Amino acid sequence: MKYYFTVPIYYTNGAPHIGHTYTTLVADVIKRYQKLIGNQPEYTTGTDEHGVNVERAANKLGKSPQEFVDTIADEFRMHWDKLGIQADHFIRTSSPEHQKTVQWMFEQCRANGYVYKGHYTGAYCVSDNLFATEAKPGEPCPICGRTLEAVTEENFFFKLSAFTDKLLELYEKHPEFIQPEARRNEVISFVKGGLTDLSITRTGISWGIPVPNEAPHVFYVWFDALIAYFTAAGGADWQSKGLWPADLHLVGKEIIRFHAVYWPAFLMAAGLPLPKQIWAHGWLLFDNDKMSKTKGNVVRPLPIAEIMGFDALRLYLMREVVFGADGNFGYEALVTRYNADLANGIGNLASRTLSMIHQYRGGKIPASDGDQHFAQLATETVEYVLEAFSKFEFNKGLDRVWALISATDKLIVERAPWKLVKDPDSAELLDRTLYTAAEVVRITCGLLAPVMPDSIQKLWHQLGCPSEVDQLRAAELHWGKLPAGQELRPVQPVFPRLDVKLTMEKLIEGELAERKRQDILLGREVKEEKPALDLAPEITIDDFVKVDLRVGQVLEAAAVKGSDKLLHLKVDIGEPEPRSIVAGIALAYKPEQMIGRKVVIVANLAPRKLRGLTSQGMIVAASIGEGLPVLAGFNEDIGVGARLK
Ligand code: MSP
Repeated sequence: MKYYFTVPIYYTNGAPHIGHTYTTLVADVIKRYQKLIGNQPEYTTGTDEHGVNVERAANKLGKSPQEFVDTIADEFRMHWDKLGIQADHFIRTSSPEHQKTVQWMFEQCRANGYVYKGHYTGAYCVSDNLFATEAKPGEPCPICGRTLEAVTEENFFFKLSAFTDKLLELYEKHPEFIQPEARRNEVISFVKGGLTDLSITRTGISWGIPVPNEAPHVFYVWFDALIAYFTAAGGADWQSKGLWPADLHLVGKEIIRFHAVYWPAFLMAAGLPLPKQIWAHGWLLFDNDKMSKTKGNVVRPLPIAEIMGFDALRLYLMREVVFGADGNFGYEALVTRYNADLANGIGNLASRTLSMIHQYRGGKIPASDGDQHFAQLATETVEYVLEAFSKFEFNKGLDRVWALISATDKLIVERAPWKLVKDPDSAELLDRTLYTAAEVVRITCGLLAPVMPDSIQKLWHQLGCPSEVDQLRAAELHWGKLPAGQELRPVQPVFPRLDVKLTMEKLIEGELAERKRQDILLGREVKEEKPALDLAPEITIDDFVKVDLRVGQVLEAAAVKGSDKLLHLKVDIGEPEPRSIVAGIALAYKPEQMIGRKVVIVANLAPRKLRGLTSQGMIVAASIGEGLPVLAGFNEDIGVGARLK
């Protein structure tokens, strides 16, 4: 069955950020899921390239609008490629095919009596390309807050008011048309408030699709943009393509009204079938705050993909965010989730299972039916996950996959195959345990492949499965389909554990570099930015003088038995007896390098025991993140016992 769906076509006022990535990624997961259940999915994205803003931005750079949008459309394409996002259609509103479709739709609406010429004066937001019907010129735009301008001109109008009852009837008859429920209620009360006709053309702009035989009118944003979904489905030729009506439009919650009110009205006016569903998801926040360029807290996806692999980001967004509600993005949560779910979770289960089969069974899947209660659990998991994904409850589905992974980990620990292998009477139990674990890995791969296509393919390959994992169909997720005798390939770690602090530092550095790259690309002023330091809470001078820092000289240094990080030092700080200090510097300094060296000591720190040795102070060193320590020292000589203040 065909399954045609869409994500928004994005404005070309900047390169994609993680918010655009989120919607597009959800679409990509839906596509792969639809394939898994045997459908023929196709989805559309693209770029919304017209409007005053683009014209202004291009002028500022001395570029033509077309040149300007070409650069940004390429950026979007490059991003989707690098993130494993395989959209089937990329519609650019400046393309000839789209221009033809918009003009055709207009003619249909006009022929059916839903378009007329009139005058419009209103408060217009150039940033959103929108007349703000509920505000006055000079007031802030209700969407972006920028000052509204007064605009009067001759426009073509679309008779939106003629559709109030038809739309209400549509929402009533098809409660599934707008999802989730809260958005549906919001749209219904907006329509019940009464619809006014909509201006759909402009005369003051040249960067737009011309209204046929009506120069200087060009189409204005929503009559142009929404039609992109229909362009991808073949435009005037839609019947021969068989994609229209769309099964689903995925959008962010801020543009639900345009999709759930304007769009069905345009389609009804043109005599075209209506899409089946519009799903509005929530916003992705950064550290629980709305992302915006002015706040400088917009997150770019590419550095994350480059540092952690794009599947890490895909999983994070699908598991952490409840589809439909607002969700949060944070670097620390991203890395922590990677370690928990990927390195320790599926990565660890797969590598220990496959390694044991290599070691104990010559790298071949043993003959067994597996444990029956796992067969049951896996079957229930498959059913639950497929159902959850069909309702876009990705996080719930993924939670269940990880519950299966944990249960299998537990089984391995309980059975302890490393003990069973030593007992000839336990051969059957060992086969059963290994088969169970391997079959769970196979089924888990099948369920996770829509979310993490690239890394799951690597595990799939190691498991010895012959075809590509994206060729897999749901029927093959039945327990027992893993053939005995299947030969594994060598085990290679797919999700190496990451150091949280170091990775976060790399991610933040990557974000700053990417910001700069985009600024240069888009001709913006490049600001040299340094990341904010994660400072300890403020203290007073009185707090500071409580810390007694002294210059000391190392008299003796030795490695500490059983530790590669610690050195045991004897340090003279001008007291009758040298101090015994245990310092975590052995990875950076050899004992012989330390002897005679002047160092800085925290001299009034309460003594403590480390590896049986008393440490009577702390040596001061600097490090970047978890990097190697560098000892504090002096450029000029200074006597032992001098205080730092
Ligand atoms: N061009 C219009 C859409 C026309 S569709 C026929 C537009 N473009 S946009 O560039 O502003 O993209 C908006 C969409 O990007 C949102 O609806 C959502 O899908 C996605 N997101 C942008 N920022 C987002 C977040 N912070 N969080 C989640 N999604 C967000 O509107």
